[in-house]
Amino acid sequence: MITNTELEQKGNAFPSNVVSFRKDVDTLYFTTENDVALQITILRDGLLRFRYSTTGMFSKDFSYAITKHASIGYNQLDIEEKEGNYSITTTKIICEVSKKGLKVKIFDRADGTLINEDELGFHWEESYEFGGDIVKMSKVSHDGESYFGLGDKPGHLNLKGKRFENWVTDSYAYGKDTDPIYKTIPFYTGLHNKKAYGIFFDNTFRSYFDFAQERRFVTSFWAQGGEMNYYFIYGPKMTDVVEYYTDLTGKPDLPPLWALGFHQCKWSYYPESKVKEITSKFRELQIPCDAIYLDIDYMEGFRCFTWNKEYFPDPKRMVKELEADGFKTVAIIDPGIKIDKNYWVYKEGLENDYFCKRADGPYIKGKVWPGECYFPDFTNPKVREWWSGLFKELIEDIGVKGIWNDMNEPAVMEVPNKTFPHDVRHDYDANPCSHRKAHNIYGMQMARATYHGVKKFSHPKRPFVITRAAYSGTQRYTSTWTGDNIANWEHLWIANVQVQRLAMSGFSFAGSDIGGFAEQPHGELFTRWIQLATFHPFFRVHSSGDHGDQEPWTFDEDITDIVRKFIELRYQLLPYLYTAFWDYTEKGIPLIKSLVMFDQEDVNTHYRIDEFIFGDSILACPVIEPNAKGRRMYVPRGNWYNYWTDELVKGGKEMWVDADIDSMPVFIKEGAIVPKYPIQQYVSEKKIEEITLEVYYKKGKEDSQFFEDAHDGYDYTKGRFCLRSFKLTGRKNQLIIQQHKEGSFESDCKNFKLKIHGLPFEIKTIQLDNETKSLEHLQVNGCLTMIINENFSELDFNGENGDN
Ligand code: GLC
Repeated sequence: MITNTELEQKGNAFPSNVVSFRKDVDTLYFTTENDVALQITILRDGLLRFRYSTTGMFSKDFSYAITKHASIGYNQLDIEEKEGNYSITTTKIICEVSKKGLKVKIFDRADGTLINEDELGFHWEESYEFGGDIVKMSKVSHDGESYFGLGDKPGHLNLKGKRFENWVTDSYAYGKDTDPIYKTIPFYTGLHNKKAYGIFFDNTFRSYFDFAQERRFVTSFWAQGGEMNYYFIYGPKMTDVVEYYTDLTGKPDLPPLWALGFHQCKWSYYPESKVKEITSKFRELQIPCDAIYLDIDYMEGFRCFTWNKEYFPDPKRMVKELEADGFKTVAIIDPGIKIDKNYWVYKEGLENDYFCKRADGPYIKGKVWPGECYFPDFTNPKVREWWSGLFKELIEDIGVKGIWNDMNEPAVMEVPNKTFPHDVRHDYDANPCSHRKAHNIYGMQMARATYHGVKKFSHPKRPFVITRAAYSGTQRYTSTWTGDNIANWEHLWIANVQVQRLAMSGFSFAGSDIGGFAEQPHGELFTRWIQLATFHPFFRVHSSGDHGDQEPWTFDEDITDIVRKFIELRYQLLPYLYTAFWDYTEKGIPLIKSLVMFDQEDVNTHYRIDEFIFGDSILACPVIEPNAKGRRMYVPRGNWYNYWTDELVKGGKEMWVDADIDSMPVFIKEGAIVPKYPIQQYVSEKKIEEITLEVYYKKGKEDSQFFEDAHDGYDYTKGRFCLRSFKLTGRKNQLIIQQHKEGSFESDCKNFKLKIHGLPFEIKTIQLDNETKSLEHLQVNGCLTMIINENFSELDFNGENGDN
């Protein structure tokens, strides 16, 4: 293994003294005596891009990660040449570049705190074998500094003290220490002195990150080729770092609402009668479910874009019947195309020269489910267009609603490195290269082509895609899951960490195979997993099936009842989750936040792992131990209502929370207004004319939002949405709720059922839009309830009679 930080630095070369400097609008150019060039581009006041070249010349600038929609523009840019350095000032930071060795230091402009500092800084080693350089960067790691992010790594949330590799890898039954696994997201957030910054190393070659493992005071990252090309993102809030990173690498569109419902999957449900048996059972037992999956056995000999007509004689009819019962069908499509001269996809790929080739000309041939396959070069725009077109029949004619991309690392069976050899050639959007450079983005480009195809043929509805492999930016196109996990308690812990970590890495629409993919869970584990996943953006049960069944009714009746209760809760919370999703698509705000992201000022959150915030006001903490009747957890600062008992607890401390098998610790932030739908068996089953608003009293003020639209289609982009902003003001004897509505969408909702929790006074008068209402409008069923017109502007509950 290459190490970046050998103390003797053997074979490493370093930039020498700066000999020239120039500025061109937003970019600064530095050159050293030994021909190292550094380009610093100021993208935003707190967002700087650093590019280094060891030859004085830069190759064509191209990135699959960065979106053309990224926000750019700064308010201030001043450059000053000082004795030993150049100093760059924006409204947020001061960045110093030393004249000796191009070392960089970045300070907070407001209070002068040192945020980030090069140790050796940029250095490199020439790559004899492949040409070019192994490019390296090392930074000072401060005492008390923590590191978060890096995609789907399965270990502890704080990355400090560990080294990681980024090389997208098929990892069946991985464990806590397996590295690398399916995704490459070379982005981390550093936190020290309660200030956060991010580093995104946009280099697709195999890369490494060492967070003070090899040397206690050094954090470094390096790649086996390409450029030292990284973005420095200053917060100082962690949420801002992740938002800026997500803005840079792209925010997704809203998914159809059904995609946030419950999904049932297995490898594999077939034939048609089995699929129907499963979906009917959901309806019979009244367990809500929106999507049913077809794994590889629906195909003819695992040939993509074909159907096994013996198992599925009339897919169009089946998909239609499932749809009539509220089920959307999602089908798997893998990248490997079976070598079969009678197979149309293979023939088209061959005739048009769409398959990847080895350096000396032959096709790369690899074994996957169908046997020997060739693989489309998804890095070629023509190939992506062809691939998109292949979805016409599945989506437009048959009516399949979502596509599941798997094995797209690309996974190859029975070879030692589990993927293509290094010499395979790729187009890389007219930047021809080897697999060393294209490997990490292969799956992303497949998902991209799939997304465009599904989008085109689903129009005017929204597409749904899920992928296993990913690189930074993949969140623009698709949702994801964490791959082939195992039905054990350790994996429940891993699922919790991975989904939080993905959210911190810009990829919020993620979930795990509930219950575990390999092996079979017992009812208790399955239940605890369902409970956790109720609060994950993507909510799907999946299993390999060779160890037994994994439907909600597989265990005993009590388990089925608890599972139903949690899936019902998910369906009630859909408007809340959808609002959070909308915020994610607008601003890049993660759908779930680890406690450290929620309150970085409180150092007690820095090492917390299990607890997280779902949306912005629900605190969830899964039970991840067997036989538990509850657990200890950290409740962050502020006041929180226990969701199940309405008990108000003061946070900022660790406490015991009861949670027998039918419950889990869930708290609501005081002051929150949480919209809830009635229970439905699937999205749009009912016309919802009454929406519940759960109002949690707070002494003080709190803002909440509730976003609605048609739940599918693109009308919301033309203003046809309904955004309600609520302002809650609580006083000793008064509670005021104000509503402001924006957008032209006409909701079906006529009334709100307000449920008021924790009101500390007895209501004596009610004013609704300046009219006095009789107290008869109030009901008390455990908590105060009142039904009011959805159009209200101000509601005022008073604990004192109007006349005093
Ligand atoms: C891979 C996937 C898994 C799928 C199986 C068969 O193992 O990760 O989800 O069920 O392939 O397609």
